[in-house]
Amino acid sequence: MNHFNQAANQWDTPEKIEQNKKYAEEIKSLSGKKDFSHILEVGCGTGLLGSQFVTPASSLTGIDTSEGMLEVFNRKFSTMTNVHSVKINLEQEDLDENSFDLILSSMAFHHLTEPEAMIKKLKTKLSPAGLIAVIDLDKEDGTFHPDPVKMGVHHSGFAKEDIEKWAGKNELNVQVKIINTIHKNEKQYPIFLALFSPIKH
Ligand SMILES: C[S@@+](CC[C@H](N)C(=O)[O-])C[C@H]1O[C@@H](n2cnc3c(N)ncnc32)[C@H](O)[C@@H]1O
Repeated sequence: MNHFNQAANQWDTPEKIEQNKKYAEEIKSLSGKKDFSHILEVGCGTGLLGSQFVTPASSLTGIDTSEGMLEVFNRKFSTMTNVHSVKINLEQEDLDENSFDLILSSMAFHHLTEPEAMIKKLKTKLSPAGLIAVIDLDKEDGTFHPDPVKMGVHHSGFAKEDIEKWAGKNELNVQVKIINTIHKNEKQYPIFLALFSPIKH
């Protein structure tokens, strides 16, 4: 059983719910948009961030590699016919859906082997004015995760320059903002929001 399958049932805590409310407000504020109609959440886990955006008038697709996380996601949204999940590793497979006007990903990019390639793939799934919002750890010293190998961690966060490179290589604009600081191990770990948008020609 992988780390996230084991963690799934205890994943949602009051602290994480509050954090994700704040993250959603930051996305709305930086994008200047409050309503989105077709939303994809990559590495959705239990859907903590997507749940802040989905309304009866919109749709949410959550994708994740962890069956345990998706079971909690499915239970959470069981009464909403406009929400569904797909168990997929988007680095290796493709999703048969596109034209999303908001693609979200929170704390999942450090688990990817090729984050820049993921941005390239996600760009193909955007509607013309669609946005990609990535939230993750700022570059850290490798101490954030107690057991990075067991937890499937491939990156100790990302520097602003890394994120700007992903945008440049994929012909996207990007705004990067520190939106939170997680305190643990007697250290401070800043969390960034990177908001990617198409370049208008
Ligand atoms: C740290 S958790 C974050 C979950 C959720 N976004 C949150 O903030 O609560 C990372 C999630 O990314 C998922 N994940 C890791 N690699 C993935 C991949 N290649 N494709 C899809 N999901 C992946 C994990 O299964 C896990 O649910």
